Amino acid sequence: MSKLIITGKRELSGEIITSSSKNSSLPIIAASILGNGTTRIINVPNISDVKIMIELLRGIGAKVDYYKNTLSINPESINCTELVQEISSKIRASFQFLGPFLAKYGKAKIYYPGGCNIGTRPIELHLKGLSSLGAYIIKENGFVEVMANKLIGTKIYLDFPSVGATENILMASVLAEGETTIDNAAEEPEITDLANFLNKMGARIYGAGTDSIKITGVNKLTACSYEPIPDRIEAGTYMVAAAITRSKIKIKNVHEDCLKPVSAKLKEMGVNIESGDDAIIVDGKNELKCTDIKTMPFPGFPTDMQAQIMALLSTVKGTSIITETVFENRFNHINEFNKMGTNISVSGKSAIIQGVDKIRGCKVCASDLRAGAALVLMGLCAEGDTEIADMDHIERGYDSLHLKLENIGAQIFKV
Ligand code: EPZ
Repeated sequence: MSKLIITGKRELSGEIITSSSKNSSLPIIAASILGNGTTRIINVPNISDVKIMIELLRGIGAKVDYYKNTLSINPESINCTELVQEISSKIRASFQFLGPFLAKYGKAKIYYPGGCNIGTRPIELHLKGLSSLGAYIIKENGFVEVMANKLIGTKIYLDFPSVGATENILMASVLAEGETTIDNAAEEPEITDLANFLNKMGARIYGAGTDSIKITGVNKLTACSYEPIPDRIEAGTYMVAAAITRSKIKIKNVHEDCLKPVSAKLKEMGVNIESGDDAIIVDGKNELKCTDIKTMPFPGFPTDMQAQIMALLSTVKGTSIITETVFENRFNHINEFNKMGTNISVSGKSAIIQGVDKIRGCKVCASDLRAGAALVLMGLCAEGDTEIADMDHIERGYDSLHLKLENIGAQIFKV
């Protein structure tokens, strides 16, 4: 596994550009099999989760090209609806093929998904939704098999606004007979993006981005070209990079409305954020104040920014509390932070952060994607060098993170 070496205390300056959203691109790649002909997805980030999705598609016979960040997918030659275990169990998003396979081919066999070790990652909401549409489900020794002669639209209520379950039900219902309603649906911007993509292919989806989505089934979908939205978590990571190094930077390719929960908290802490066209200027030079944060489904504060904002709060005088309500085991980064001199303790779902004056560089290990990104942020403000092992976790979701940061003044390199 490769590692990153960062020499901290460098002021950042200049412009950094976010890529398209990982959590939009992945379900859109899965949904592309629903269209007849070649779908082109533009500005797809060059990250390992995308490479795995490409491998999965090629493994079942699809024609896939990836050139200059444009992904072309032709599903006409797909000859199998079973995803091989050793690849599909690597990432969570492999499970997003369930809905499209069921809608287009009437069957699917997918091994339990992998992904970040931030909790048990159950799938019962996905399966409950698909069986409500008429799918027959077998769960046996580590895989899920679903079959349906016909999918019939129905009313579905999600016990929790699960992003993945909302996406799978959405993709299964676009070709179902009649109308489907998903209540207590996830409202994340990536859901709206997926719905916009499917509607561009000829689907009839209304209300995406709210907690109630209506889908009227159609007979077929046609291929299209589409550019996913910018990555709001990558942008949020750079906003914290500016604040934690007390720097001022410009972040380009952002949708500000998707950043509101993060911007609101950073402004509360004293970070200056100015809007530009398709860009924001983030200035962390003021004395920052501590605050309390509770992660919630969108439009609440995103769980995917929890580790990053914790890194920032550990450098701010006073006591801050972060409560993680979305995943049950997403504090793995705290041990690594405390090795670098932070003072963080855990009580139930909450982390209590006592701000410290000094963060010391040392050898640390990335436990998952966002924990790895947060360790990079800690390295940027630490005295001395920080060595981050297992940076492959970071490369699952960030396209050339170290090169982009080096471009704005960070002293960081990959070995
Ligand atoms: C998506 O994961 C994202 N991944 C995650 O981003 C993100 O943290 C999460 O949504 C929440 O926003 C992708 O989009 C590829 P969920 P997903 O289903 O769909 C429980 C990152 O860092 N749940 O909304 O797996 C589950 O246990 C990654 O980019 C059930 O109980 O998230 C969790 O506690 C990490 N039953 C909560 O819902 C189910 O059937 C949220 O999960 C499904 C989920």
